[in-house]
Amino acid sequence: MTTAVGRPRTAARIAVALDTADEGRLVDLAAALAGEADVLKVGLQAVTAFGPRAIRRVAEHAPVFCDLKLHDIPNTVAGAAAAAAAAGASMLTVHAAGGAAMVAAAVAAAPAVDILAVTVLTSVDDVLLAELGMDGADVVAPRLARHAVTAGAAGIVCAGHEVSTVRNVVGNAALVVVPGIRPEGAAVQDQARVMTPRAAVDAGADLLVIGRPVTAADDPVAALRTVRTQLAATPSADET
Ligand code: C5P
Repeated sequence: MTTAVGRPRTAARIAVALDTADEGRLVDLAAALAGEADVLKVGLQAVTAFGPRAIRRVAEHAPVFCDLKLHDIPNTVAGAAAAAAAAGASMLTVHAAGGAAMVAAAVAAAPAVDILAVTVLTSVDDVLLAELGMDGADVVAPRLARHAVTAGAAGIVCAGHEVSTVRNVVGNAALVVVPGIRPEGAAVQDQARVMTPRAAVDAGADLLVIGRPVTAADDPVAALRTVRTQLAATPSADET
């Protein structure tokens, strides 16, 4: 009952992304999903629309994964990280591309918060990376991950396809977080590099991030339960 990298299959948790600028909807979703999700993710839409109250109100229901993807000079990122911590965030994202000093500044400013470093967005594919003059995601993601963890990041955000290469450089102590999760048959939408929940867990992800396949469903709680049921029921390759 282990993943490809020897981690227990049951280890993966689920964060639901509450991407909305509507405060009533945010709170309703938080209240409804708190019992089913392990973590609730609050991002740019909500925080830009109504500030730290977005974090505070969701934190009344569940641990908050604050996904601001901070990317600025170290002093500015430190201030924003401290503000997110004061509002009640348990996890906070920064862009690993901001460099080691920026990641370290976030870690120092919010010592009680798990700082997660985003490597390559799941909406970006290798064609776009090449147009930007960059190597492929399989090279860029582990490179950024190594710098971020050395700077003190508690975890890494990457696509499911990079989990094993990232895990190889960051080890088992770091949290590997995977967005771009799409249940079998779900619409890909603006994501480019998606993976099913089962495949991401088997690759070794610790925390799956799933948004619209749950929040845009007629019954978000039922949609999340279906994901959990599929995760529990589908045999992985190492069990067959
Ligand atoms: O709705 P969907 O499942 O695509 O939501 C994915 C969530 O994960 C969004 O909130 C998005 O901002 C976030 N995310 C991502 N790719 C990353 C990092 C975070 O899609 N690399």
